[in-house]
Amino acid sequence: MKREGVLVVGSANMDLVVVTDRFPQAGETILGDHFQMFPGGKGANQAVCCARLNGLTHFLGRLGQDLFGDRLFQNMQSDGVKLDAVKRDETHPTGVALIVVDSNGQNQIVVAPGSNMQLSPQDLEDHRQLFREVRAVIVQLEIPEETVFKAAELATEQDAVFILNPAPARALPDDLLSRVDYLTPNETELASLSGMKVEDIETAEEAARQLIAKGVTNVVVTLGEQGALLVTSDKAQLFPTRSVEVVDTTAAGDAFNGALALAISEEQDIGGAILFANTVASTSVTALGAQSSMPYRDTIQALSREQSDD
Ligand code: RIB
Repeated sequence: MKREGVLVVGSANMDLVVVTDRFPQAGETILGDHFQMFPGGKGANQAVCCARLNGLTHFLGRLGQDLFGDRLFQNMQSDGVKLDAVKRDETHPTGVALIVVDSNGQNQIVVAPGSNMQLSPQDLEDHRQLFREVRAVIVQLEIPEETVFKAAELATEQDAVFILNPAPARALPDDLLSRVDYLTPNETELASLSGMKVEDIETAEEAARQLIAKGVTNVVVTLGEQGALLVTSDKAQLFPTRSVEVVDTTAAGDAFNGALALAISEEQDIGGAILFANTVASTSVTALGAQSSMPYRDTIQALSREQSDD
């Protein structure tokens, strides 16, 4: 059977969002704009991103048996994500994220993970055939560590490319890092994983080298408006991104990761894959919300044509 597409193992949350002029300080109440709900969660965001870019995409995760779970399921389904490996948890509610977005498009997020933290190694074992059907497996850290480890084990065993998006940041054991083909931290996550200060491109490269020394094959550091830095054992290269009017940076990292996973599954060379992911991420920040901001493939193709004409 021909291998194709991406398996996303991860979280789904309902995002409860308020836009404000500025973030409140501790103990302060401020008035914001109106309240909005958006389908979110790092795993589900990455899955919707892949599917909107026309990739065959499977999502493996847990939703609660509640209204938020129903809505998240329907949303991913309508975007074409394959959901045969989704389990509806009988006792834990669907994950929820409280999000404040300020007038610069920056955000603060608190997640109540709910059913995401019940995703078990056995859930992955139950769908082990998916790991040999796809070309790339991508995982984030809003699920239990032993489940992340199981995903790494199954991906290695089935010869799928294993991508770990270490968000939100958490210390990771060396025996997990040594199984990672692509690790995709942002600057904060890189600092926390390496224990080093990350302030600029030079310090990002140094910190990434620490992780390469622990067995990661490629580190791709996302640097916001500066683009992304690829570090391997023998090179470091910065891939710049275009500047855009920022509305909301929520899920920009997920857009980058979803697009990168898809491009890798399409066997694009890594430089082209990072440039593609930069274009997808920079487009996603021009709209409000997580899954709602993921662009479609024809938009990205048109932008890439414009960029190559410049
Ligand atoms: O990366 C953005 C996501 O983080 C949000 O959609 C929220 O649900 C949290 O998981």
